[in-house]
Amino acid sequence: MMDKNKTRNIGIYVHIPFCISKCYYCDFTSYTNKQEYIEKYIKCVNKEIEYEAKIARIVTTIYIGGGTPSSIDEKYIATILSTIYKNYKVIDNAEITIEVNPGTCTLKKLKAYKKMGINRLSIGLQSANDNLLKEIGRIHNFDDYKKTIEYAKKAGFKNISTDIIIGLPNQTIYDVEDTLNKLIDLEIKHISVYSLIVEENTKMNELINSNKLKLPDDEIERYMYWFAKRKLEDNGFIHYEISNFALPGYMSIHNMDCWSQKKYYGFGVAAASFIGNKRFTNTNSIETYIKNIENGKFLANRNIDEVLNDEDMQKEYIMLGLRKISGFNIYDFIKKFNKNPLLEYDKKFDKLFKEKLIEIDYGDLNIKLTKKGLDFANIVWEEFV
Ligand SMILES: C[S@@+](CC[C@H](N)C(=O)[O-])C[C@H]1O[C@@H](n2cnc3c(N)ncnc32)[C@H](O)[C@@H]1O
Ligand code: SF4
Repeated sequence: MMDKNKTRNIGIYVHIPFCISKCYYCDFTSYTNKQEYIEKYIKCVNKEIEYEAKIARIVTTIYIGGGTPSSIDEKYIATILSTIYKNYKVIDNAEITIEVNPGTCTLKKLKAYKKMGINRLSIGLQSANDNLLKEIGRIHNFDDYKKTIEYAKKAGFKNISTDIIIGLPNQTIYDVEDTLNKLIDLEIKHISVYSLIVEENTKMNELINSNKLKLPDDEIERYMYWFAKRKLEDNGFIHYEISNFALPGYMSIHNMDCWSQKKYYGFGVAAASFIGNKRFTNTNSIETYIKNIENGKFLANRNIDEVLNDEDMQKEYIMLGLRKISGFNIYDFIKKFNKNPLLEYDKKFDKLFKEKLIEIDYGDLNIKLTKKGLDFANIVWEEFV
């Protein structure tokens, strides 16, 4: 019998789709010209949170992402959290993260976040090089980021994460080194190192296609990745997921739960949920989202992306598990699905073992990506989609 993910523990994701301006590489659902909806939108998000709370659920993590949650007044974030606290049982010391952008955060705002129970900040920096920041359409410079860190520490935040991007046009290995040195000096506890994805409907794509910007070669991008990995590991960081590094005790619990196929509810426009064996994504039109919630048609906002059968669940568990550097445990798989993954997917695993893309860690019986697999993870995913 398969474990149908029936635990009452859940993670909550809340999407705040407002930004001051659109970064050239970004394809996330966020608006720069719909500030007039903020008030109504937050009311609707609160209604959606209440609607889902009919059955008592235990919340272990909350993640307020975007968009730029720090671009709206802190009172809105407070109402969202109080709606969650009122309608769900939130465990003591739950990890509560908010994404913030440099240039949108005052000390007052950060103190308010701390007071309302937020205990983790995820700050988008992308690079410490001011020229690069301009070229990718960021609204801030490195000094703004330093100010945000100074305020965050003053407000009492210890658990601070920072996102950077590698493989940007005109970026050099020295930029990456300088950015990492600065983050290490600032004692940042968690660093996400994302490889640039050039999304179709972005200004970055336009600029590259019209030869106004040029991407670095793949080998250089890979060199940046391995350089970042070595540098961070030399400074005590644990590489725990393809793009994520943390000092001991600072891994993102919310994201680790998602990679372990645990349940999460997504609230707000374009928010994704994984409940039971279904994946949903809410509509990405803020007008439709608001209209449906105001008319009490909560489910009309949801697009069912996928109903996963047993085989889909197993394959997805493998794919998500392999994102983690420690991989997934063979016994955990057997406990969850009552099947041995090595027998169930023998041909696929044989092929990947032969190509040296995955390996077994015989100490704890985990299957994980090899070093080569980290560079060619897409080939591994292809086997399981
Ligand atoms: C959902 S975004 C929101 C973060 C926040 N609004 C900010 O920009 O500071 C989270 C992170 O995704 C990364 N990201 C967004 N678009 C990307 C892309 N096309 N390629 C690689 N990383 C990307 C950025 O590092 C960004 O900080
Ligand atoms: S990267 Fe962040 S700030 Fe920039 S457009 Fe995307 S969500 Fe908004």
